[in-house]
Order: sequence, then C-alpha cells, then structure tokens
Amino acid sequence: MTAIIIAVDGTAASGKGTLAKKLAKHFGFPHLDSGALYRLTALGVLETGGNPANAEDAVKAAKAIDFARASDPAIRTDAVGAAASKVAAIPEVRAALYDFQRRFVEQPPGGAAGAVIDGRDIGTVICPEATAKLFVDAAPAVRAHRRWLELQGMGIVRDEKALEAELVARDAQDRARAVSPLKQAADATLLDTSNLGIDAAFAAALALVEPKLKGLLTAKPRG
Ligand code: CDP
Repeated sequence: MTAIIIAVDGTAASGKGTLAKKLAKHFGFPHLDSGALYRLTALGVLETGGNPANAEDAVKAAKAIDFARASDPAIRTDAVGAAASKVAAIPEVRAALYDFQRRFVEQPPGGAAGAVIDGRDIGTVICPEATAKLFVDAAPAVRAHRRWLELQGMGIVRDEKALEAELVARDAQDRARAVSPLKQAADATLLDTSNLGIDAAFAAALALVEPKLKGLLTAKPRG
C-alpha cells in the first residue's frame, strides 16, 4: 500500500518544523526534517575547510553525511543555515540527497502507514504526490523573533534585526535558485502563522490536513 505523505514546506523559521513534528506525533508517523540534510552537508563542508558554494566540496559532503548527527546543535546555527542555503542551490547536492528522502516516505521507518517531511521543495519536487501539503509562512519580524528565542535557548545571543535581514536574504536566495526553488505547490494550502501561537498553529494545520487523510487511516491517531 502506498504510504500517506504529509508535506510541510515553508519559509525560514516559519514554524514548519514544529508543526511537522506535532503532526507526526499526532498521527503516529515518523518525521524527516529535510533541512537537516542540507545543514549536515553545509557543516561537513565547513568542518573540512571547504567552500559551500563549490559544487565539488558540497557534493563530497552530501555523499558523506552522517544522519545520526541530525540532532547535533552545531547544525542549528545561523552560519550553518546560510551555508546550507548555498549548498542547497547546487543541483548535484539535491540529487545526492533525493534518494534518502524518497526512501523515508516510501518505506516509513518502523513500518508506519505514513510519514511527515518538511522542507522547501517537498510538495513540488520530492513528493508531488503527497496526500496533504501545507505551505507555512509568517511575517519576517515574527520569524526573526522566533529564531532569536531558539538561538537564545542554545546560548547564542544575536541582534534580532540582523537575524531578520539574514532570514529575508536566505528566503530570497532559496526562491531565486534555478533548481527546486522555495515555492508553494499549486495544490498546497497556505498557513500564515504570524498571529498564531504553537497550539493555535497546530490546530489550524490539523484542520487542513485531517480531511485529506480521511479513510486512509486504519488505527486511531494519537494526541
Ligand atoms: O530552520 P530553517 O527554516 O531556518 O531552515 P532549514 O529548514 O533547516 O533549511 C536550511 C536551508 O536548507 C534552507 O534555507 C534551504 O536553502 C535548504 N533546504 C532546501 O533547499 N530544501 C529543503 N527541502 C530543505 C532545506
């Protein structure tokens, strides 16, 4: 049976990762943060003294990523985020990370009936056939504040205005690239979380996703 796929795309620090995790928990599905693949690639390049914009350096790092390091806080810094956006614009890097993402959704870990994956091109390129597609966005100042809090929690204190400028620049770079640009899929629903806290955003996401899964779930969802 084809697995159920919930695709959550969106802008930087829009809250798509938090929503994807909560949706995964609710339905009892595994969750893949595809951004971690690009961040791990970027970290690999930076750790070996390479240039994230150089295709050879970036592809070598993409082929050598250790997904066990996805929870390493080192990949969450804004410097790694900026480098991730550079490696992500290289077509060979995206090709090298494609199979990992497809395997995850085609054979969800743990034999689950479905999977949740978040990123920039999930609904457009990686899983155009996804069962449900969300595109998450929020005003830049709101996103910058959320990222500021997240970094502060990691002991990193940044100027919020500078963070906002970096997020806007990264989105512009992600939208402008030729390959798999950041873009709302034609059949995705926009969810603007500017005025929504985590619980309200999750309730809104669930209200959009649940009807698409109707009749496809055999076990009762948790949460
Ligand atoms: O957490 P945040 O929203 O800031 O970023 P992320 O989801 O971890 O992604 C970091 C960078 O990886 C993005 O700016 C994109 O350039 C790239 N990325 C991508 O190109 N395609 C994806 N499916 C996921 C991330």
